Amino acid sequence: MDYSYKVIEHFMCPRNVGSMPDANAEGTYGDSNCGDFLNVYLKVEDDTIKKISYLVFGCAAAVASSSMMSELAQGKTVEEALEITDKDIEQGLDGLPANKLHCSVLGAKALRNAINNYLMNRQTEKMKRNGKDEIISEDPKD
Ligand code: FES
Repeated sequence: MDYSYKVIEHFMCPRNVGSMPDANAEGTYGDSNCGDFLNVYLKVEDDTIKKISYLVFGCAAAVASSSMMSELAQGKTVEEALEITDKDIEQGLDGLPANKLHCSVLGAKALRNAINNYLMNRQTEKMKRNGKDEIISEDPKD
């Protein structure tokens, strides 16, 4: 199987690998065919991905794809990061063998799930704040 130099390099030295105790969002995606899975952790501030890390259980292409996904997403706004596709990951790695193209999907989908988790948390926080504001604004004499 012919892997590009970049795939081998990211597999040997994956970037941003590990869990993240102070993450404020998390997303998982697994491939039911091969059993590989990826967990992505995000620290988002002002809607920008300040930190990203992941734990991956998978093949060399899945490790390299996760590493490339983290480099592509780091520093982007959540809206920009939602645009990252498996094709972007594959191109960032200078290509993947045809039978390994699906491995880049793991990164794109787990990232999307983590961002959706962030957006849901943000919405929940907003609703809680609004609820609290309503209670505070009520006249205590009523
Ligand atoms: Fe499962 Fe690569 S073979 S993600």
